[in-house]
Amino acid sequence: MLNTPASPSPTLNPDGTISAVVLSVSPPDAPFRLLRLWLPPGAAESPVCGRFWMARCAEDTLSARAQDWSIYLRRPLLAAGVPETMARPQEADPVPNEAGAGERIDLLLGPAADPGADWLAARPPGSTVNLLGPFGRPFALPPNSRTLLVLTLPAYAPLWLPAVHDMLDRGGRVTLVTPPPAAAESLRARLPLAVELRAARDAADWSQHLAETVRWADHLCASLPASHYQPLADDVRRTRFRVDPGFAHIYLEANLACGFGACLACAVPLPDGGMTRACLHGPIFPLERVTV
Ligand code: FES
Repeated sequence: MLNTPASPSPTLNPDGTISAVVLSVSPPDAPFRLLRLWLPPGAAESPVCGRFWMARCAEDTLSARAQDWSIYLRRPLLAAGVPETMARPQEADPVPNEAGAGERIDLLLGPAADPGADWLAARPPGSTVNLLGPFGRPFALPPNSRTLLVLTLPAYAPLWLPAVHDMLDRGGRVTLVTPPPAAAESLRARLPLAVELRAARDAADWSQHLAETVRWADHLCASLPASHYQPLADDVRRTRFRVDPGFAHIYLEANLACGFGACLACAVPLPDGGMTRACLHGPIFPLERVTV
């Protein structure tokens, strides 16, 4: 394939960065913002759940990377789906591809009104975005689990899609519950059909859903506001008598500024008084590790 401006292909650059090709951006009315990128072969190692790439929010040219530092910090883009090999031409894609040409992956953009994320969301299909990574500790479901409970705000539901697909592929069951007052209807079309979706109407309904679902789950994944995690740990103890090590994993939102452990901006307090870095040891943590 020719690497021309008219038909860019993803590349691993000599400076260690990745030039990924933008395939699409989710529409503005979607419940979350996804950037679909085309990566070079091998750039998305499995498992991708919990991993993220740091995206440069400026033109992806060699001279700009060498000289232009008057820009926003790189923004973390979390894996939001299973990488797919781009194995055959698809007319829906705005750029040509060929067998073994790389992998297509959805990455979760940060919230609207963040200037860096907004810049990335405005990239046209066929343009390139400069990435560093992947970073973060990969998360994989325990091999013997067969029932997965996901508790999540709709905006973070895609984080767990790799685990959801893994569970469904092994013949397991998945229930996803959103807390109030989240509007979860728009999630329905974006989840695999086999996922049971429950939307809690209010706090009492949320407690009821937890009481019904935490009991039978083999594994629990949560991406909720940080203030929900201690009550969640208490709920798990009430229902199951203790938080078994490895039973529950949570996504902790942290300030991922450098992505590789150098700046300490992502420090997360631990129950024993210590600190850990979300970019190295998270951002998905075992629940028992970060709550008392
Ligand atoms: S993001 Fe810099 S140390 Fe974690």
